[in-house]
Amino acid sequence: MKVQVDRRDGLTVAVDVIASGVFERPEKDDTFPRTLQKEDEATGGLLKAAWARKELKGKRKEFTVFHRPDGKGRVVLIGLGPHGKYSADTVRRAAAEVVRGLRGRGARTLGFRLGSFVDETVRADAVAAALTDGAILGNYEFLKYKATSEGTVEEAGIHLGEEFSRDEAALRKVVTDQAVVDDVVVWARDIANLPADTASPARLAEEATALGKEFGLKVSVFDEKKLAEMGCGGILAVGSGSAGHPPRMIILEYPGGARRGKTVAVVGKGITFDSGGISIKPALAMQEMKFDKSGAVAVLGILRAAATLKVPPRVIGVMCCAENVPSGTAYRPGDVVRSFNGKTIEVLNTDAEGRVVLSDGLGYAVKQYRPDEVIDLATLTGAQVVALGDDTAGLVSNDEKLAQGLLGASAATGEPLWRMPLTDFHRELVKSDIADVRNSTEIPVAGMLTAAAFLETFVGSTPWAHIDIAGPAYTTSKTRKYQPAYQPTGATAFAVRLVTRYLETAPPRG
Ligand code: BES
Ligand code: MN
Ligand code: ZN
Repeated sequence: MKVQVDRRDGLTVAVDVIASGVFERPEKDDTFPRTLQKEDEATGGLLKAAWARKELKGKRKEFTVFHRPDGKGRVVLIGLGPHGKYSADTVRRAAAEVVRGLRGRGARTLGFRLGSFVDETVRADAVAAALTDGAILGNYEFLKYKATSEGTVEEAGIHLGEEFSRDEAALRKVVTDQAVVDDVVVWARDIANLPADTASPARLAEEATALGKEFGLKVSVFDEKKLAEMGCGGILAVGSGSAGHPPRMIILEYPGGARRGKTVAVVGKGITFDSGGISIKPALAMQEMKFDKSGAVAVLGILRAAATLKVPPRVIGVMCCAENVPSGTAYRPGDVVRSFNGKTIEVLNTDAEGRVVLSDGLGYAVKQYRPDEVIDLATLTGAQVVALGDDTAGLVSNDEKLAQGLLGASAATGEPLWRMPLTDFHRELVKSDIADVRNSTEIPVAGMLTAAAFLETFVGSTPWAHIDIAGPAYTTSKTRKYQPAYQPTGATAFAVRLVTRYLETAPPRG
């Protein structure tokens, strides 16, 4: 979908649908909102009548369609809730509710009347960016295996009207930049949604190679042979059960923008299918484990966004890709494997495989590139979902600046992140009797944090942030109704917007 700023007033222009936001009024105040005067005129007074009948109240998710008597298309009113609960995310959700509500209703062109979505607490540029997010992300559908689309919006305008026309240049830039990131999210969702028979580690390497060609980035692909030479025993062990889809470690290097400063490594878990291996998972919902590559796919997206937007830091992407399946050649509980940095891992549960592949990726990133900061992204633990649910990712970090920078980027993009502690209690739990570290614990407590304690072993003293995206990485038909409309069923490409924003805005180190 194409989103553009349009200086005209949407209600004077021929588009299929004009969408406007409606704020909910306090209980006793039933006066018609002045901001909707133009919409009321366009509908020949239908709005005021609906307001008087209390059909239109501005409650969140309230979606009302009016057909204009002048035949110039439709006006959709989307509820924003009360001013007191308004934020940029209200707008992001509302824009997505509009495009999803219009599915299959023959609306190809859409306009948002910016003025109707603005309240004095959020700046107009943030509102315009949120409309862009909501429209593009909400409009997403995975079409590779479907003959026909449900019918989505093709073009959306953000109409400034007289009210905002003097900010046109600035708003145009905000919307264009936001659309770049959102288009990357769409691109990443298309890859993350591919099933495991297609999205093998080798296929992810092809995607990375193609991306590298397009943007002139250096890409290295390490196959089993090379991984063995390097001593990447973790990724090799996890991938050893797969007959047809051998593991790969994939490195992408973005050299940094003109204001080049620090080096940031972004390491992603790329398990193309997680059956659990010998410690096999129950059959119920096992198909969801095709999304266990979401961290690595987010890394791809982040590199694409970094190269398109020319962010200041140098960015190294590391994708740790393997298929975790049981077979006669699979790794077993009890095995001890040696990771890239020389540390040994006692495997107690082959289903705790994410941390095992990441150990090589983190160790390699830190040793090879000496990054100023390393961020890992992984659908790492069910415990993350238990602790925080499907909307909020878990953050663990050994560095205050990096953690605050990521939390700031989270607030700015509306991708929720919550910091959790890492203590000696968690570190003690991953100590092994026979190896340096073990991949699972004796007692099932703080699963997200013992996983983080394991990862910490492989980053040394490098400023590091671990983001567990097990919940937010994908939406199921069950969780769909609890999620905002911009997170449709399937892969969300969570963390692409958040980490890209961090790279765009984070100050240099030192
Ligand atoms: N990929 C899973 C984690 C996961 C669970 C992601 C639910 C998305 C939704 C991971 O590899 C895993 O199986 N973790 C185990 C670790 C345990 C065996 C220590 C878990 O969380 O149960
Ligand atoms: Mn697992
Ligand atoms: Zn996994």
